[in-house]
Amino acid sequence: MPITVVQTKAELRAEIARLLAEHAGRRGSGASLGLVDPLAPRASLGLVPTMGALHDGHRRLAKAAVAANDVVVASIFVNPLQFGDPTDLERYPRTLDADAALLEGVGVDLVFAPSVDEMYPGGDPLVRVTAGRLAEKWEGASRPGHFDGVLTVVAKLFHLAMPGPVAGQPAAFRAYFGQKDAQQLAIVRRMVRDLDFPVDVVGVPIVRAADGLALSSRNQFLSDEERDAALVLSRALLLVDARAAAHEPLMPDDAVALIESQPGVELDYFDVVDPDTLEPLAFACRETPFTGEALAIVAARVGDVRLIDNMPLKAR
Ligand code: PAF
Repeated sequence: MPITVVQTKAELRAEIARLLAEHAGRRGSGASLGLVDPLAPRASLGLVPTMGALHDGHRRLAKAAVAANDVVVASIFVNPLQFGDPTDLERYPRTLDADAALLEGVGVDLVFAPSVDEMYPGGDPLVRVTAGRLAEKWEGASRPGHFDGVLTVVAKLFHLAMPGPVAGQPAAFRAYFGQKDAQQLAIVRRMVRDLDFPVDVVGVPIVRAADGLALSSRNQFLSDEERDAALVLSRALLLVDARAAAHEPLMPDDAVALIESQPGVELDYFDVVDPDTLEPLAFACRETPFTGEALAIVAARVGDVRLIDNMPLKAR
């Protein structure tokens, strides 16, 4: 069956309820008759929030959602609240037909592609979710207000997609985010914890091209030469990853020097941080044999394109 694309909040809610009920009926557990089987697994809904321009990284997110849930909905909404620069918002690729085809190909059931008016009917919302201290550093430092915009739309999407009970039992609700946007993932997790959203946030690992470049909608703006230069970011991450694996001191300054030696790449930050708080590891942890877990993060400008990447570090 071709994938259903809906544009309004009312259609989204109705379709989610219909799909979950249909699924319960197919399971034939008596659920369609309203009978509750206490041993039957709970019905589950997976939400994959996106801004479209989907690539293999999103494909992996959607596949993870499809593998674990009865019904999967993906949202495609280029959220104006998270763009500081109006030119950036304007030039963000809008490729709904290709996106819907990709999602259909991996078995997503429903696409929610609302207009800006549908999401923010009275114009920009007055009341927003704020990310606080977690948004002051790294990406937040160069994109003021970005994470408040992300959290506000994600909170709305959680409310809109949250499934009601199916056959008398609460349904499981999971939302899928890429680990590539590590700060976004940490901040969304924190919002869910601090504001008690009944949703499990699932982080899905980065997908890389064969040459190591992390997939991103922005890669299409790189020339061949810029793309080659950008590979220094994953090389720098691999440098500290190899040291972490070998219980060696991480010495992140070596990775910084490597990136700074690459013509055409302007480093914004490279650091090793705690994966939850995003606070840099204490100086001592960088200079002594590495134990435990951390996250190496990097952002740089290559030509006109700002790229981010990261790698979980683990002593193995
Ligand atoms: O990661 C993205 O694509 C966006 O920030 C998100 C989570 C869909 C919110 O607009």
